[in-house]
Amino acid sequence: MFLDDFIRMCFDGFEQGWHERNGGNLSYRMKDEDVEAVKDKLHDTGRHYDMNFSAPELKGAYFTITGSGKYMRNVPLAPEKNIGIIRIDDAGTGYDILWGLEDGAKPTSEIPTHLMNHIARMKATDGACRVIYHAHPANITALTYTLPPEAKAYTRVLWQSETECAVVFPEGVGVVDWMVPGSIDIGIETAKLITKYRAVVWTFHGIFGSGVDFDETFGLVHTIEKAAEIYLKAKSAGIVRTITDDEFKALADAFGVTLNPEFLG
Ligand code: 13P
Ligand code: ZN
Repeated sequence: MFLDDFIRMCFDGFEQGWHERNGGNLSYRMKDEDVEAVKDKLHDTGRHYDMNFSAPELKGAYFTITGSGKYMRNVPLAPEKNIGIIRIDDAGTGYDILWGLEDGAKPTSEIPTHLMNHIARMKATDGACRVIYHAHPANITALTYTLPPEAKAYTRVLWQSETECAVVFPEGVGVVDWMVPGSIDIGIETAKLITKYRAVVWTFHGIFGSGVDFDETFGLVHTIEKAAEIYLKAKSAGIVRTITDDEFKALADAFGVTLNPEFLG
């Protein structure tokens, strides 16, 4: 059941240490069968909010989404207070809360980035992508203090830090330089990049990851965070050698993946 998987992922991220306080948020674009499975829970709560941006592509779409100011560690204890189900209205400019987010809670303050990322990934994957996840992993965030905010710099460092990284994210990762979180503008910049890359790093803040399901999305962020940790450990010990571009080419051949050529050489 999608709701159990959603709740599990919230707590998995907390256990990794990626969700201090209310840090991080998660959204899932529900399938028709998901809506059907919970239809007895859904009702008109009379709580309608404007989004301050237009998302015509999402008219009538249902999302399960974490609440603003809510702690991921509390999600399994009281899902109805910490997460909710919303439906984007027929104008595509607002949404109704149909379940959860009790006691006046609202969806995450990062809802512009979540919804804009959903639109971008829906288009990029012919509708397959359903999960958008924001986390504050310490090593990814630490990495942003050591590199220029360029996709090539991040991608090469991460690919070089664990052999399987290039297989897991052959397109590379994007990076947004520091911007005010929760804003429409950071949503627009992130969505531009997430069209090309399934994961986008937020400088001095964290990361957004996307995927077709919870496992793939969590696994992507987990892989990037571990690579960042390995890089920082190796860097503090002193890097004397790394994976070469010829080795990347051999890896790509063996695994049948196409590595983004912008990041080789
Ligand atoms: P929310 O509590 O509004 O989800 O914000 C947390 C966060 O990580 C903002 O970037
Ligand atoms: Zn954040």
